[in-house]
Amino acid sequence: MWPLMFVTTLALSSAIAETVNLPRNDSEWQYSFGVDYENNQFLLDGKPFRYVSGSFHYFRAPRQYWRDRLRKMRAAGLNAISTYVEWSLHEPEPGQFNWVGDADLVEFLNIAQEEDLLVLLRPGPYICAERDLGGLPYWLLRDEPNIRLRTKDVAFMKHATSYLNQVLEKIKPLLRGNGGPIIMVQVENEYGSYKACDTDYTDMLKDIIIEKIGNKALLYTTDGASASLLRCGFVPGAYATVDFGTSVNITNSFQSMRLYQPRGPLVNSEFYPGWLTHWGEAFQRIKTEAVTRTLREMLDVGASVNIYMFYGGTNFGFTSGANGGAGAYSPQLTSYDYDAPLTEAGDPTDKYYAIRDVIGQYLPLPNMTLPVASPKGNYGPVLLEPIQKLLDSQSPFVVSLATGEQPKTFEALSVNQGFVLYETDLPSSISDPAILRAKTSDRALVYVDNRLCGTLSRIDKIFTIPLESPYGRRLNLLVENQGRLNFGNEIHDFKGISNVTISGISLSNWTMTGYAFSDISSLRNLTTVNIESGTLNNGPVFLRGHFTINGQPLDTYLDTTGWGKGVAFVNGYNLGRYWPLVGPQITLYVPAPYLRTGENELIILELEYVSQTRKMKFQAVPNLGTASLNLNS
Ligand SMILES: *[C@@H]1O[C@H](CO)[C@@H](O)[C@H](O)[C@H]1NC(C)=O
Ligand SMILES: *[C@@H]1O[C@H](CO)[C@@H](O)[C@H](O)[C@H]1NC(C)=O
Ligand SMILES: *[C@@H]1O[C@H](CO)[C@@H](O)[C@H](O)[C@H]1NC(C)=O
Ligand SMILES: *[C@@H]1O[C@H](CO)[C@@H](O)[C@H](O)[C@H]1NC(C)=O
Ligand SMILES: *[C@@H]1O[C@H](CO)[C@@H](O)[C@H](O)[C@H]1NC(C)=O
Repeated sequence: MWPLMFVTTLALSSAIAETVNLPRNDSEWQYSFGVDYENNQFLLDGKPFRYVSGSFHYFRAPRQYWRDRLRKMRAAGLNAISTYVEWSLHEPEPGQFNWVGDADLVEFLNIAQEEDLLVLLRPGPYICAERDLGGLPYWLLRDEPNIRLRTKDVAFMKHATSYLNQVLEKIKPLLRGNGGPIIMVQVENEYGSYKACDTDYTDMLKDIIIEKIGNKALLYTTDGASASLLRCGFVPGAYATVDFGTSVNITNSFQSMRLYQPRGPLVNSEFYPGWLTHWGEAFQRIKTEAVTRTLREMLDVGASVNIYMFYGGTNFGFTSGANGGAGAYSPQLTSYDYDAPLTEAGDPTDKYYAIRDVIGQYLPLPNMTLPVASPKGNYGPVLLEPIQKLLDSQSPFVVSLATGEQPKTFEALSVNQGFVLYETDLPSSISDPAILRAKTSDRALVYVDNRLCGTLSRIDKIFTIPLESPYGRRLNLLVENQGRLNFGNEIHDFKGISNVTISGISLSNWTMTGYAFSDISSLRNLTTVNIESGTLNNGPVFLRGHFTINGQPLDTYLDTTGWGKGVAFVNGYNLGRYWPLVGPQITLYVPAPYLRTGENELIILELEYVSQTRKMKFQAVPNLGTASLNLNS
């Protein structure tokens, strides 16, 4: 049975928080979680409790590694983990749900429980998380172009409700009140940072969650630690918590939580031991001493803390998102190493052991063998031979073909990720010199009569390019989606081109071809074609090579040095984007479950520049580029 529940509506106006009845007997409190407002603490199964948790997103590691990473987290002294749930992964098309393989959320939660970890679940619908469109599915933009994301807009609520109900139904048996590991469920995500400030919407989400899970777990919110962010992020009836990193005055940071949560345990729901990195900037690192110092300060005042990320993992495929807005655009790396205590390959760092030492002063450490770095494969160089041009008329990767007076968005073409080729004829009489102008998301290779003329770039705000005697010739713009914005007020981030003009004349009558790469097996049996090394003047090329692994495959890193920009696949698994020209990430992480004993296949889609060596190599060490230590830390 369920004891009288503690977490009920805590209206902002009521300064006097509700208190809990103390447990009468153990059986009555078995499987419960809530807040003891009187004593500013959580109660787990009726007993005073605090968590030191770590974030690990199951969608950033192959399922074969879930237990390994979770066990290492427990060995660090953590007693809980936190994960987002990614809507776009679980509902790739409306009404088509996916809960198997690497999307098997229930299995992940079961393993967490088996590994003696409680769970803080963050089901969204929006999660940010440095993922494409903040975890929202792209088809929201396709089916409802005028949708007001993250608001009570019926178009959004219809889909969000259906998704949330699916998730909640799945995880219901795993709630603490039902004997499972989930003690807390987050309502939306850092909603106070979003300009809409639609509190009807967050109330509706809260009601959906309560209707499904009742009081069998604690609802909570989290926002940046400032009164202005909590203003729109606070949801009456959910426990308000805050996020902050190192080098802050924790008293002041927790004070912002107290403005909205006058009593109850202090909680930092995202304590940053590292940081995310965008393409083109130095790899972000946070000093261990700064992390342990702030962690100790928080634990000293009795706070519960979730370390974001404890294990970051990888944005495999095209799942990485971007920051930006107001004209800026900065997509994130494929690696989500995050300078976390466990590396992208799940190896413990000095930071890991230092954090464990701190936790050990506040919580009992489990009697477990301490992890060590796993062995890595050094499989050497692989010669890559060109096998097909992306823009071949025979391309098996065409997923969409359309024509129109004006260019259509990727979304309108049902192209989620990948590329769209926009083609039209240039007018025969234009001024000289002729300037092409196009609003481009996010990067466009510009070809005239199939010859490369330059690149338009949203990152660099380059939207114009002079064209040499283009009169009457064919214009091709190959547009790459580098990841939809995941944060801020401009997440309605449609991909494609618009407002294309040449010397002020609007271009129309477009042919559009969408390319996607969910299955690349058609490349397997192709024979070699001839291309020049160096700059790819005639469009992107697939190259293929083979390598042999003797014995049990090990994790390894693909070194892309000397190449331009592209995507790499091992045995059909999309490892993600590479871009050594810009960095800082140079190697792509290759988990052993993607490899096999015997012959393996590496295929790359190179967009811009073929290395003179035509080789990439698999090495035993990562290269995420030059570090930038956060000086504030
Ligand atoms: C944090 O701020 C409070 C009040 O603003 C101040 O009293 C305290 O000394 C500060 N703590 C540190 C470590 O600077
Ligand atoms: C820790 O585990 C080991 C191996 O299982 C066991 O031999 C040892 O007695 C345990 N130590 C404690 C303090 O429980
Ligand atoms: C693009 O064209 C549309 C329709 O003509 C116009 O409303 C919009 O302001 C233009 N955008 C830019 C960035 O020029
Ligand atoms: C539009 O483009 C198509 C294909 O390139 C061409 O056949 C057609 O004549 C063009 N229409 C106009 C009105 O220019
Ligand atoms: C490739 O060739 C092998 C052997 O010739 C054949 O079994 C396989 O079906 C082919 N695969 C594809 C994708 O064409």
